Parts: sequence; C-alpha cells; structure tokens
Amino acid sequence: MSEAPHGAPIKTPGQLIAAVVAGFAVPIVIIILLAYYVDNTTRTGAGTDELSVQQVTDRIAPIAQVSIRDANAPRVYKTGEQVYQAVCSACHASGAAGAPKFGNSGDWAPRIAQGYDTLWHTALTGKGAMPARGGTSPDDYSDYEIGLAVAYMANHGGANFQDPPKPAPGAANAASGAATASGASGAADANAAQASAAAAAIAAIPQTGSAPAGGAASADASQAGKALYTQVCQACHAAGVLGAPKFGNKADWAPRLKDPMDTVYNYALHGKGQMPPKGGSTASDADVKAAVDYMVSAAK
Ligand code: HEC
Ligand code: HEC
Repeated sequence: MSEAPHGAPIKTPGQLIAAVVAGFAVPIVIIILLAYYVDNTTRTGAGTDELSVQQVTDRIAPIAQVSIRDANAPRVYKTGEQVYQAVCSACHASGAAGAPKFGNSGDWAPRIAQGYDTLWHTALTGKGAMPARGGTSPDDYSDYEIGLAVAYMANHGGANFQDPPKPAPGAANAASGAATASGASGAADANAAQASAAAAAIAAIPQTGSAPAGGAASADASQAGKALYTQVCQACHAAGVLGAPKFGNKADWAPRLKDPMDTVYNYALHGKGQMPPKGGSTASDADVKAAVDYMVSAAK
C-alpha cells in the first residue's frame, strides 16, 4: 500500500485508462452537444435573416394599415367634387385668403397654364396661404383623391384636364379576401361611375333656387318641394345612386324616418356621407325642407 499512501482515487491501470478517456471524452461530448444546441437555435442560411418576423412585419406594415381601414369600409374613393365640398370649398368657394375662386376662369386661367401635374403637386405640397393637401392628412384623402379635386376645380375654371389615373386596387383590396376583392373594386367602379353621372346631372342643373323660392312660402311649399326634387334631388334619389334612399321606397326610408324630422332636415341641408349639402344646389333652406317633405310623404 506504500504506492498509494494518501488513498489516491486511481489505484489500478484500468482506472487510469478510464480516467484518461473520461478526461478527454466528457468535455468533448459536452462541447459537441453545446455546439449543436447553439447551432440549432440560430441556424439560418445566408441572407435569410432578412425574413425575420420583425422585418416582415415592418415591411408589410404600411399595407396592413391600409387594409385595416378597408376592413371597415371597402375602399371607395371620394370623387373630386366630394373632396372639394368637404375640404377645398372652405377657401376656394369664396376665394378666401386669395385662393383662386371656384368657377372663376379669370382666377384659374394663369394657374391652369402651369399644367395639371404642377397644380396637383402644389395642392399636395401647399403654396403660400394654401395649406398642403388643403390641410388634410394622407389618411383622410389619398393623393389620388386630392388630384381628383384639383381636376374638378380646374375644369370648372375652364381647364379640360383628365382625372389622374386610379391607383391599382391590388394593395387596397389585398386583405379583403378573394371573395370580396372583386366585388369591392367592382362596387368602387360602379360608385365612381354613378358619382360622375350624378355630378354631371348636378352640373346640368340651372342654379335657380330663386324661382320657386320667391312665392308665398306655405301655400307653394309642396310645389316648391316637388320642383326642387325634380331639378336636383332626383339625380340621386330617383335611382338610389350612391346608396341614396330611393324615392317612394318605404324600406329605404323607414329607418331614416325614425330620426326626428329636424335631424332629417339637417342631413339634407348639411349633407351626410355621400349626400352633398342641399344635394349640391343653392336652393333656400325652406325649399330643401320642402323637398324633404315631398320625398318623405312619398315614402309613407
Ligand atoms: C385654407 C384655405 C385653403 C384650402 C382649405 C384649400 N386651398 Fe387651395 N389655395 C388656397 C390659396 C390661398 C391658394 C393661392 C396660393 C397662391 O397662389 O399663393 C390656393 C391655390 C390652389 C391651387 C393653385 C395652385 C397654383 O399653383 O396656382 C390649387 C390647385 C389648389 N389650391 C387646390 C386645392 C385643393 C385640391 C384643396 C382641397 C383638397 C384646396 N386647394 C384647399 C387656399 C386653400
Ligand atoms: C349626389 C347625390 C344626391 C343628391 C343630388 C341628393 N341626395 Fe339626398 N342622399 C344621398 C345619399 C347618398 C344619401 C344617404 C346618405 C347616408 O345615409 O349616408 C342621401 C340621404 C338623404 C336623406 C336622408 C337623410 C337621413 O338619413 O335621414 C334626405 C332627407 C335627403 N337625402 C334629401 C335630399 C334632398 C332634399 C335633395 C335635393 C335638394 C337631395 N337629397 C339630393 C345622395 C344625394
């Protein structure tokens, strides 16, 4: 026992060999396992880290935002007239702050001479007292819709501009699903066609508002209402253009007539959704109310 006086653990050649093998093998096995472990969790091919979830999310984020808006209401672009009525008319109807006045070819001629693209660009970026996009954000009105409003205003000032090209529907409809996608763009086209038809009809309306308005109001009210309906309101309400409640259609009117009449008058006077204030006419308040009465009585 003198060979191992301190009780050393290795006492035989067999134990020595085992200890040596274990001394090499165990760390190597551990290293190999660790290498696999690490390698497994981070294994990517060259370039594939571009497709990490985060980056894919970032990349599709703008599209996803558009789609969220569309999920509520399929993208239906406003017409140039609607954008004008909602935004631009605030200054351009009266010529406030030196804005070229709507329908005034003297104001518009020098601007039209700059060409459509320049005007469109100016409307988007602003100029002097003209705020960029008329003070709206791109979320409210797309470049395309601003462009429509520019064409609408310039054409009423004597230009003959084409509407800007419609943006490809792909991005907007992507998230609506295959089933609704075609329907949505179809509806958008139909709406745009209807809207321009209605706009044309309205443009053709002689801006009277005076002829029926003058007379003894209460006696002539129903006459005036009918006259205004025939001149203006039927452009949309006869056929239900843009989702307008149809003349004489009880089902269309019943839910609206649950509101107090003052509310219904207010919608007719100040607009609602696609319904322009006073139907786009310059009729007096009394005549518009009379027209509402006329339409309502036909739907009872
Ligand atoms: C806050 C008032 C205001 C609003 C709202 C507004 N504009 Fe203007 N706009 C102006 C003024 C002021 C000018 C004249 C700017 C100048 O020539 O310095 C102008 C000029 C323009 C011009 C002519 C630019 C040029 O180069 O001559 C266009 C086109 C135009 N506006 C389009 C629009 C459109 C489209 C909208 C609605 C989306 C709109 N504007 C809303 C005030 C307004
Ligand atoms: C450019 C098309 C258009 C013209 C022109 C038009 N309307 Fe409308 N109108 C609509 C649409 C679209 C609606 C549905 C609006 C909504 O519910 O969002 C509507 C709704 C209405 C409503 C129901 C409001 C409610 O929900 O209670 C009344 C009342 C009405 N219009 C009156 C008139 C009168 C009066 C005229 C003529 C002076 C007229 N409209 C001209 C498109 C039009």
